[in-house]
Amino acid sequence: MDRRIIIAIDGPAGAGKSTIARRVAERLGFTYIDSGAMYRAVALWAIREKLDPAGTRHMEELAKAAAIEFEPGSSSVRLNGEDVTAAIRTLGVSNAASIVSAIPGVRRALVETQRKMGEEGNVVMEGRDIGSVVFPNAAVKVFLDAHPDERARRRVEQTGEGDRDAIAAQIGERDQRDRTRPESPLVQAPDAVYLDSTALSQDEVEEAILKLVRARMSNGKEYQ
Ligand code: DC
Repeated sequence: MDRRIIIAIDGPAGAGKSTIARRVAERLGFTYIDSGAMYRAVALWAIREKLDPAGTRHMEELAKAAAIEFEPGSSSVRLNGEDVTAAIRTLGVSNAASIVSAIPGVRRALVETQRKMGEEGNVVMEGRDIGSVVFPNAAVKVFLDAHPDERARRRVEQTGEGDRDAIAAQIGERDQRDRTRPESPLVQAPDAVYLDSTALSQDEVEEAILKLVRARMSNGKEYQ
């Protein structure tokens, strides 16, 4: 019997997914996987190669060829053997990643890699389409949201980049693109639990998710 447990955390940029997903994974001893980092890694490669992130064929080739690895127990990401943990966090890469991630061939390639990562053990994976597309049978699905102003505030605090209005505008633009793209748009899976973190502390969000996990684990059902 397959007892792998997948916890899917989806939601818009700046809702607090990464911090919470990492903490939940730590608490449960699961592997944390940041699927957005994979789209970012492809975008970084494109920028370095001076390729257009909207160029379907080239981006598909990069996504298929990219060797993306996560260092277990840390947030380090490697692209083709190089540590790109910091390099993928710039504003330029954020914007290019949003464009790259709308390309169906790129998504196909990365979703395949994500599913393979999920086969290897218990994981907490965060992104936009984890509960809706990548792991539709995930044991626990959370859609983590927060008010756009609060998401912009958190991003500024987290990255120390730019002013809040500019960040808010960029987040709005990325959200719009992520929600309206034809391929795997950001949507709440019908069976996902909606969590609004605007007025919650990280501890409260973590506790709410752990409660869902405990409830799911104790009802004797099988897990994906
Ligand atoms: O979560 P993030 O900001 O690091 O994601 C970077 C971009 O990748 C963002 O524009 C949304 C996209 N993305 C996606 O389309 N699907 C995912 N599963 C994760 C991220």
